[in-house]
Amino acid sequence: MALALENVGVAFGGFRALSEVSLSIAPGQVIGLIGPNGAGKTTCVNTLTGFQAPGTGRVMLGGRDVSRLSAHGFRRAGVARTFQAGRLFTGLDVLDNLACTSVGLGQRRAAAEHEAEDLLHWMGIADLQSRPAAGLPYTDERRVAIARALMGHPDFLLLDEPAAGMSEKEAADLAALIHRIAREKGIGCLLIEHNVGLVLSVCAHVVVLDGGRVIEQGDRAAILGSRAVREAYLGANVEAA
Ligand SMILES: Nc1ncnc2c1ncn2[C@@H]1O[C@H](COP(=O)(O)OP(=O)(O)O)[C@@H](O)[C@H]1O
Ligand SMILES: [Mg+2]
Repeated sequence: MALALENVGVAFGGFRALSEVSLSIAPGQVIGLIGPNGAGKTTCVNTLTGFQAPGTGRVMLGGRDVSRLSAHGFRRAGVARTFQAGRLFTGLDVLDNLACTSVGLGQRRAAAEHEAEDLLHWMGIADLQSRPAAGLPYTDERRVAIARALMGHPDFLLLDEPAAGMSEKEAADLAALIHRIAREKGIGCLLIEHNVGLVLSVCAHVVVLDGGRVIEQGDRAAILGSRAVREAYLGANVEAA
């Protein structure tokens, strides 16, 4: 029951944003996706969630070709995501931000609110429930965005730079949360993150993109030992990671 890209190519006009990209996320697994700016990371997430149709290749979910499914279809099929910018509904409070997601998935209002309360409690942010989404501190906004993505019990969660702008401590807390999401809920996660040390600490498997191609993938040792990765991207960070 994996979510996967199979030899996916995406072009914008004449520009090839992705070329023959293959990667797979299993239930309960946290995969890291790294690479320099413009490498194609967000395009991968867009393709894995129906926001971008693949030009070539296929998107597979549980053995089924879902390449032509809409973004809403992916969400209904159990694939959730967060965005690089929070994108909360700023006119609503935190509880309603979560509840309206499940209502959109066909849940009744009361049940959706109940689910939202449980989830905020599970994440340790029940105190935010009645706060307006507008004006939340940055890290709270990020956590609410993740909580909202978890509504409706998805099987997969794709996180596009959720730790951007966080302190080391906040990023470490976020890493612990992602661990819990994978372990306790059995959700397969994909984490896009600039902090290579953080990615290598959370992810058993890391995929490295450069220029729209997968230039390396493997465990911590494979990534740290890769000359291609060092040359393309890590530079001096590889010693620090
Ligand atoms: N909708 C689009 N139209 C044209 N070019 C795009 C579009 N989306 C992304 N690109 C280009 O594709 C490349 C990969 O972008 P992106 O996937 O956002 O990279 P990353 O998330 O790794 O920084 C970049 O050069 C970007 O400018
Ligand atoms: Mg991006």
